[in-house]
Amino acid sequence: MKHYAFGALAALSLATVGQAQENIVIGHSLSPQSHYGVGAQAFIDTLTELSGGSFTGEQAPAGQLGGERDMIEGLQIGSMDVVITSTGPLGNFVPQVYALDLPFLFRDYDHARTTLDGEIGQELLDEIGKNNLVGLAWSENGFRHVTNSQRPVRTPDDLDGLKLRTMENRVHMAAFEGMGAAPTPMAFPELFGALQQGVVDGQENPVTVITASKFWEVQKYVSLTGHVYSPAVVLASPILFDGLTEEQQGWFMEAAKASAAATRAEVNRLEQAGVEMLRENGMEVITDIDKAPFAKLAAESSYSVYTDQYGSEMVDRIKAVE
Ligand code: PAF
Repeated sequence: MKHYAFGALAALSLATVGQAQENIVIGHSLSPQSHYGVGAQAFIDTLTELSGGSFTGEQAPAGQLGGERDMIEGLQIGSMDVVITSTGPLGNFVPQVYALDLPFLFRDYDHARTTLDGEIGQELLDEIGKNNLVGLAWSENGFRHVTNSQRPVRTPDDLDGLKLRTMENRVHMAAFEGMGAAPTPMAFPELFGALQQGVVDGQENPVTVITASKFWEVQKYVSLTGHVYSPAVVLASPILFDGLTEEQQGWFMEAAKASAAATRAEVNRLEQAGVEMLRENGMEVITDIDKAPFAKLAAESSYSVYTDQYGSEMVDRIKAVE
């Protein structure tokens, strides 16, 4: 499908479904070489193959079609087809998903992936489906770390007063307030310029994103805080998806699974190679961090954003996943 502007394409999307060949646009925020780009390409290749070429695809990378929040809205009105997004802004649409954004909840990648590939992940995909979106598969962004231009961050005191860009996510903002920083929510496409101009001192993202975005050009310090796991999800527009046959829907689901597998493999690779890349490009990498005081402050300030509304059952279930 061609995308000319937000809002104007719902009719076009509907009109073109069912024709001999359909070109699907898959939007995301990072470069075609990033873990999202690799996942987007796997989606396109799998969909094209399974459909015998009746569906083709192209990437709209690097936030060309807006920030993640804009792209999610685009799915709801049918101006976007498929989007790979972090859960950062998704809680604004599907508040139950905030459970996944709680800091220091997931122990490691295995814990996160097992949770998302199991019953809990499916329940949350179903919730997404009740909110005018189609959740095709859980993908991955990675464990997030703090970078900044001012000083090494080893303790919560080092965060004191740091202007830190966060995603537009209430849980993350509350967590950073609790840990002592001054959180500034901002869409990702604005971030590089804001770091460059000193509008904010720092930001937090996984190694995958720090490398893909070459943040070493504007940030000196990276502290491997791993303060929160950042899931990603492959979403489709219900306006597109509901117009597909059952067989075609199956192809989209398979393509999303292939996309998530390719993205996770790239996350694995970058978790190994990425930190070295940061050092090679002049960043000071801080690894001697006691996470316990960060975890305590973050939990005290942010868990209630979710549990006040939904209770702690989901949190306990996630913690219990082996
Ligand atoms: O920081 C963010 O907004 C997200 O982590 C990003 C880089 C858009 C990837 O989902």
